[in-house]
Amino acid sequence: SIVSTKEMLLDAKKRKYAVPAFNIHNLETVQVVVEAAAELYSPIILAATPSTVKYAGPDYLLAIANVATARYNIPIALHLDHSEDIDYIKQCIDLGYKSVMIDASHDPFEENIRKVSEVVDYAHRFGVTVEAELGRLGGQEDDLVVDEKNSIFTDPEKAVEFVEITNIDSLAVAIGTAHGLYKDKPKLDFDRLERINQLIDIPLVLHGASGIPDKDVRRSIELGITKVNIATELKIPFSNAVKQFFNEHPEESDPRKYLTPGKDAMKKVTIEKIKLCGSDGKA
Ligand code: 13P
Ligand code: ZN
Ligand code: NA
Repeated sequence: SIVSTKEMLLDAKKRKYAVPAFNIHNLETVQVVVEAAAELYSPIILAATPSTVKYAGPDYLLAIANVATARYNIPIALHLDHSEDIDYIKQCIDLGYKSVMIDASHDPFEENIRKVSEVVDYAHRFGVTVEAELGRLGGQEDDLVVDEKNSIFTDPEKAVEFVEITNIDSLAVAIGTAHGLYKDKPKLDFDRLERINQLIDIPLVLHGASGIPDKDVRRSIELGITKVNIATELKIPFSNAVKQFFNEHPEESDPRKYLTPGKDAMKKVTIEKIKLCGSDGKA
């Protein structure tokens, strides 16, 4: 059955690679991710945002993930991504989810700590791992003044305090990535990441990896990132392939026909990203 992200991220930290966390939405996208991971013998994290969990059904999604673990001999985690709702997190834990993110990064520091601590206290009783975010990931493209810009990046000293007080299992850092693609070339603050990694022992997580050049992802992993979150770069090829299929076959109505090219296109990128993270052969 599904595992927490504890062992896989500690192994990634020790052996200096990252476990990719791919956002999935339904049976087909889970199939793509686990098939690619199994072929490359990679540990894998299936990430589901609260809206995905609600769309698919929390029990359905858990069952699908558990079937995948029975089929393939690799560690598979199902991770509740970016949940801001403590009660919803607890419900998922009660159902059997083993990895969650409490995202209180929009709250002031003390409030973030309070919420995260509540989730950790609950989760750890059930062997569930908890990820939390300090700083705030954004899509800001404006010419922000340095102070303002710094205020959304993760403060290394604050992060030490945050990790010590909350007892989280992994920390999502804000070092210049943003969710979705980028209008301007993203510039990552590697000095900041290096400093955070020097000060903090637990695994570090990079959100918003879509649109980040491969060399920057690799450098982030060298500097301590052990989990790389990827969503947009999988959704786009999937939907483009489906659109193209319908352009060429407007009369088609069989989901097995029109979804298969989407799956194939997504799988290609999934394989590339697993290799980029260096998790192939590490299961
Ligand atoms: P991207 O869509 O930029 O890949 O971000 C994914 C993410 O951080 C999911 O939590
Ligand atoms: Zn994210
Ligand atoms: Na991104």
